[in-house]
Amino acid sequence: MTAELPVLEDLLPLDGKRVLLRADFNVPLDGGRITDDFRIRAALPTITWLQEHGAHVTACSHLGRPKGKPDAKYSMAPVRERLAELAPGVDLLENLRFDPGEEGNDPAFVAKLVEGQDAYVDDAFGAAHRAHASIVGPPRTLPSAAGRLLQQEVDVLLGLRNHPKRPFIAVLGGAKVSDKIGVIDALLQVVDGIAIGGGMCFTFLAAQGNPIGDSLFEADQVDQCRRLLAGSKPVHLPEDVVGLAPDGTVATYGTRLPDGVKGLDIGPGSAAAFADLVLDARTVFWNGPMGLFEDERFAAGTRTVAQAMADTKAFTVVGGGDSAAALADFGLADDVDHVSTGGGASLELLELGDLPGLRALREAQARAARSGR
Ligand code: 3PG
Ligand code: MG
Repeated sequence: MTAELPVLEDLLPLDGKRVLLRADFNVPLDGGRITDDFRIRAALPTITWLQEHGAHVTACSHLGRPKGKPDAKYSMAPVRERLAELAPGVDLLENLRFDPGEEGNDPAFVAKLVEGQDAYVDDAFGAAHRAHASIVGPPRTLPSAAGRLLQQEVDVLLGLRNHPKRPFIAVLGGAKVSDKIGVIDALLQVVDGIAIGGGMCFTFLAAQGNPIGDSLFEADQVDQCRRLLAGSKPVHLPEDVVGLAPDGTVATYGTRLPDGVKGLDIGPGSAAAFADLVLDARTVFWNGPMGLFEDERFAAGTRTVAQAMADTKAFTVVGGGDSAAALADFGLADDVDHVSTGGGASLELLELGDLPGLRALREAQARAARSGR
């Protein structure tokens, strides 16, 4: 278990103080319009607390991946506008990644960020796996604390790792086995079973000797899949698949796909089986869609799993990114216990039990304790 993080109360008194707040306002945009403000709303408890305790808040975030130079497409202007509606009186710096010093963790860029600030609060859970300047830099010099969102995310996700109610089932999807192998290994240490759908299930099916037609396939992961399938914990794979044939027909197949057919969703039998696992569990972690849910023809598997997440009595946690977007699309986001604001960060925390952003805060706390603050 990761040692406790410093909390907002540790920064008191804050009356008249200036606080630099690192948030993850990396929101989805469509032509300059915010399509989901979840990550902005998620930072409000921390912002409100800071303001109620008399602090002036300067917030900062990255937005997209602008590669170290200004790019109008990734301007913070839409975020600034929404933030002003939700939390008046907060200043917001321009996109941190417009400066190469952010991703390069450049001390000169850190110095610019902390100038004139009295304290630092990290509430950017979604970026806590990045050892970037605004994440790991300010805690080296400023009194620092975790915001409410960061704290809550860490409590929930480490709770899954350390004391889940059983049975604990993980449902994983997404395109690539290679992206998820570390987290699958880590989850297999703590779960009672894993169900695997999404693009990555086809490499597993191939590892069992099934022909997979034109489906996604990572030849270099077949041995890893065999190793995972031979382990002591059950790894549940689809028993049927929805595929797209070269002539454009969509049909349900078993696990052996004809030449040219591309598997793009789990089939109805598999979706029902995965839903049963979710309904019978007492803890469920779900990350990654079961199919190409953006296309209605391949959305049923993901929708069935999402509905089971909403219906089960289990404690339900959804990793950020595509699975959170799917839940929101289906109108079910309020029906699960915790939707993480972090995609990569939630997986990395489950895998490794710690993140660079958390370490930086604990080091700041240790330093403060040594100097007797
Ligand atoms: C995310 O959306 O995953 C976080 O904001 C981190 O962004 P990044 O993957 O571009 O570092
Ligand atoms: Mg990411």
